[in-house]
Amino acid sequence: CGIIGCAGRGEDTLDTLVHGLSKLEYRGYDSAGVALADESLDVRKCAGEIEDLREHLSGMTVEGTVGMGHTRWSTHGPPTDENAHPHQDCTGNVAVVHNGIIENYQSLRDELVAAGHTFHSDTDTEVVPHLVEDALNDGLDPEAAFRQAVGQLEGSYAVALTVAGTESVFVARNDSPLVLGLGDDATFFASDVPAFRDFTDQVVYLDDGEYARISPEGWEVSDVDGTVVEKEVDTVSWDPEETGKSGYDHYMLKEIHEQPRALRQCLRGRVDELSASVDIGDLGDLSPTGIQFVACGTSYHAAFYAAQLFQSAGIPAQAFLASEYATSPPPIGDALVVGVTQSGETADTLSALREARHRGARTLAVTNVVGSTAARECDHALYIRAGPEIGVAASKTFSSQLGALNLLALATTRSDEARDIIAALRDLPGQVQELIDDSDAKEVAEHYQDAKSYFFIGRGHMHPVALEGALKMKEITYKHAEGFAAGELKHGTLALVTEDTPVFATTVGDGEQATKTVGNVKEVEARDAPVVAVTDGQSDIERYADHVLTIPETHPRAAAVLANVQLQLAAYHTANFLGRSIDKPRNLAKSVTVE
Ligand code: G6P
Repeated sequence: CGIIGCAGRGEDTLDTLVHGLSKLEYRGYDSAGVALADESLDVRKCAGEIEDLREHLSGMTVEGTVGMGHTRWSTHGPPTDENAHPHQDCTGNVAVVHNGIIENYQSLRDELVAAGHTFHSDTDTEVVPHLVEDALNDGLDPEAAFRQAVGQLEGSYAVALTVAGTESVFVARNDSPLVLGLGDDATFFASDVPAFRDFTDQVVYLDDGEYARISPEGWEVSDVDGTVVEKEVDTVSWDPEETGKSGYDHYMLKEIHEQPRALRQCLRGRVDELSASVDIGDLGDLSPTGIQFVACGTSYHAAFYAAQLFQSAGIPAQAFLASEYATSPPPIGDALVVGVTQSGETADTLSALREARHRGARTLAVTNVVGSTAARECDHALYIRAGPEIGVAASKTFSSQLGALNLLALATTRSDEARDIIAALRDLPGQVQELIDDSDAKEVAEHYQDAKSYFFIGRGHMHPVALEGALKMKEITYKHAEGFAAGELKHGTLALVTEDTPVFATTVGDGEQATKTVGNVKEVEARDAPVVAVTDGQSDIERYADHVLTIPETHPRAAAVLANVQLQLAAYHTANFLGRSIDKPRNLAKSVTVE
């Protein structure tokens, strides 16, 4: 979910909120709403995307000098008008928006219902306005009522409250992101900076347990006891234009095209080809005797690739799905635990990192978002510098993660190939650009758009690429897709392979891995499956392929980035031919802040 609020925008309050919500839609988009307050309180909400809210609001007069808005990704209850935020109390004077999960909501709700409160939604959030209502009835002022209500919550929350007659919005956070934006005449808060970046680049990141009050007069942050906290004001470094579509049909396509620049930014000032050295800043003593990666989704595939880099340097390394890490925790010893997370806010990853810290591990966040929770909670942070990514399906951030993880491996291990790898990384931005310009992925996509299923195979570094290729395809086309280590397809899934199931097979070089993958390609070809070869042309895979997506010759580590770009384009164009909602696929959210 995404939340936004502002004070000091006068008659532009409503527009500011709706604009902010449109920038937060990647966090969820199944229902949305706003609350504006001055002497009275006006709440409007509906199921659907921000565009639906815009339509719903057109022609209405919604007034207030402070306000807040919410775009939802359902956790409790289906996406309906009633379950959309803001939620209100029985009097209609109190409104609350919330991101996260209130774990003890059922017992709170039972008590409130027993005390006579009427609920209108299935959400966990709705307990909050009713708790505030009780506290106001007990004579507390809105701020004290908010503190008392929040104090009763267990779980994760970024929560905001406004009350009729108070020209203020109160916010609190625990385990869910929340950042203040400080404009000249207005103050904002949001789950993420793009929501208010058009108005200011001055930000204050709230920490867990902190409260803030914003009003047309300004802002104040306090701790759990109400003591005012001095906060550092940061300046964000990217421009608002970076979050626009710049003429592309979709953010995803724009972000695929931004990869050369993103990779350049990732490498800038960090590699020296002459001395074959890498400088990723002061990350402390990182000569790990073992390294564990925790991550989810696309970032997990980057983590899996990174574990291979460390293994090949003789360092014990494993990648774990963050959501499983705490369930069956591996021995940590003095391992470094690395969270790979684009947003730095994925609840599963944060929870795995916390588990690791709790057990004494040093932690490193490899993330795109400066000031994110992962960056702040870990001992060290390595930024991938991809710039803001809006499309829900990760594209440029995966490439930049691979770039940054190569730098991490080079900086902390010894490799005879260091010079070659650095040269290959240096060449990558230009090669990605050439590949995008010449790619035949659109023709391939057109040809196979009606396929029932897609399979992706590869060995070594092409194994995580196969997994990511399949994830991208299913996320945005809504078609079944699976990725495998090339040798594994024959151990079961070959039963599903038919003339209706294209197999994307990636080979790099002409070594043993490539030769074996070609053998696997022959197995699927013998079952009449169409083969799309993603290759640098060194193996003889093309002989068995129906289509070829070419990548330039380079070091296998860099080839992983290039092969993946071809698969991104294949998935993008397939989804586009099918008319899918590419930037906001159904049921998904870019940043999942619940476990
Ligand atoms: C969500 C997104 C995925 C993403 C995953 C991890 O599920 O839909 O695209 O890979 O979260 O996100 P992170 O921000 O931790 O990399």
